[in-house]
This record gives sequence, structure tokens and C-alpha cells, in this order.
Amino acid sequence: MTTALITGASSGIGAEYARQLAARGADLVLVARDRDALEALAVNLRRTHGVSVDVLVADLLAPRQRERVQERLADASRPVQVLVNNAGHGLSFAFERNSVDDEVRHLDLHVEVPMRLTHAALGPMLARGSGRIINVASVAAFIPRGTYGAAKGWVVSFSGWANARYAPRGVTVTAVCPGFTHTNFHERAGLPPGQEGVPSWLWLDAPAVVAESLRDAARGRSVSIPSLRYKALVALARFAPASLVARLAERGR
Ligand SMILES: NC(=O)c1ccc[n+]([C@@H]2O[C@H](COP(=O)([O-])OP(=O)(O)OC[C@H]3O[C@@H](n4cnc5c(N)ncnc54)[C@H](OP(=O)(O)O)[C@@H]3O)[C@@H](O)[C@H]2O)c1
Repeated sequence: MTTALITGASSGIGAEYARQLAARGADLVLVARDRDALEALAVNLRRTHGVSVDVLVADLLAPRQRERVQERLADASRPVQVLVNNAGHGLSFAFERNSVDDEVRHLDLHVEVPMRLTHAALGPMLARGSGRIINVASVAAFIPRGTYGAAKGWVVSFSGWANARYAPRGVTVTAVCPGFTHTNFHERAGLPPGQEGVPSWLWLDAPAVVAESLRDAARGRSVSIPSLRYKALVALARFAPASLVARLAERGR
């Protein structure tokens, strides 16, 4: 039986990972701060798929609470075969207008937290000679998009290195790089829906993002860019003039 631990499982892409992994028969450990949302999802997935679902309420920016998640991952007596580092949030303003403390918390959630959780999970996974780590990054990793893109760039770089190092020992690491996806993300960052300045054809749905990323992770890919649209855009961004890419990247958040 596979157990998957998913951070940021209370909404959006993380909740969709929970639904799709439960549909494949995986037991789950759901992590986020919103207990009610996690419990409601757990009840639904137990009833629909007959899997075991544990709720682990934790603010991943609170060291004591994050340690409980690390301990769960490091507990070899209750093995976790799949770790999905997905929790994240956007910031409301441009870099110079955000407080530096908000920027540091944002950096910690996108970089320190997945690094610590990966470290905790790796020991038992390597000892068993198998495991799958999925780190949700963003296409923003490939274009200049402030500290968000910089943090997601770290996730892509780290995952690429870790996959090369650990896949031969049975543990794959995949950075998932969605484009704009319908979730609570943009509203939570203070941007009402429809005010993104992003054309409708650029929007993805979480079920398609998650399904494609799970296929790529199963193939052991270090990077997954869901949808042909975004694969093409990322390829174009590599060759287009930097000034044009920077101008386009100013759209949305
Ligand atoms: N939506 C997009 O367009 C898009 C595009 C590319 C990449 N992404 C990435 O996808 C991931 C998921 O985002 P989403 O779009 O699904 O947004 P979302 O619907 O807002 O979900 C974010 C999740 O992160 C959790 N979270 C936030 N801060 C947390 C904390 N301190 N401790 C624990 N959990 C925390 C939230 O749960 P609680 O509030 O309950 O704690 C929530 O479950 C993020 O890493 C994001 O950067 C999103």
C-alpha cells in the first residue's frame, strides 16, 4: 500500500493531488493550516475511495509545527512513499512594496520548507530503495518574475540535481511547473479573479495539471511542464530576446 503526504492539501492543486492519488488507492497524509477544509476532504476521500486519510494540521512556517511533519516523514515504521511539496502562496505587491519579513516568509515556504521535508523523507526512502518526491514549482522558474520566480527556480534546480543523484538509488524527484491555474492562489494574493490581465487560453485546470505531472513523475522526469501550450512558451522564452520575455512576464502574477 502506498502512502502519500501532500502539503497545501486544503485547496487548489494540493487538494487535486489528494483526489487523484486517493483514486489510485493511495493512503494519504494531508497537511495545511485549515483543519475544516482538510477534514472535509478527508471524509470525502475515505468515503469515495476507501483509503485511509490522516489530517496533519500544521503551519509550515512555524518550526514546531513543521517538525511534526518532518517527524511523520522520517518515521520508518509508517513509510511515506510519495511526498508532494505543494504548499505555497503569492505576495500582494512588487518586491519593493512588500515588507522584507513577508518576502522572507515567502522564501521560506517555497525553499526552506521543501528542502527540510525532502531531507526528512529521503532517509527512509533511500533505505527502502524507492520513493517519489514531487515539488510543485511554476513556469515562473523560467522567466524573470521577481522573488516568486527566483524561489521556484531554486525548486527546479534542486529537483534536477536531486533526481540525477537519487534516481539511480530508486528515489525520483520531479519539479512540476504549472502555468496560470484556476485555484485560490491569485485571490489569496489579493488579485480578484478576472483582474489578471491574462488571456483565457493561458489558464489551466488543476485536474489536468496534476494528471500530467503524475505521469511525468512516474516516468522519472526531473521537470514536468503541464500542457503543450506552456511547453511551447517555455521553449520560446529560451530563445526570445530577454527584454521581450521580461515585458510579457509583467502580466499576471
Ligand atoms: N495557481 C497557479 O496559477 C499556480 C501556478 C504555478 C504554480 N503554482 C503553485 O502551486 C502550489 C499550490 O498553489 P495553488 O495554486 O493550489 O494555491 P491555493 O489554492 O491557494 O493553495 C495553496 C495551499 O498552500 C497551503 N499553505 C499556504 N501557506 C501555508 C503554510 N504556511 N503552511 C501550510 N500550508 C500552507 C494552503 O493551505 P492553508 O491555507 O490551509 O494552510 C493551501 O492548501 C503553490 O506552490 C504555487 O506556487 C500555482
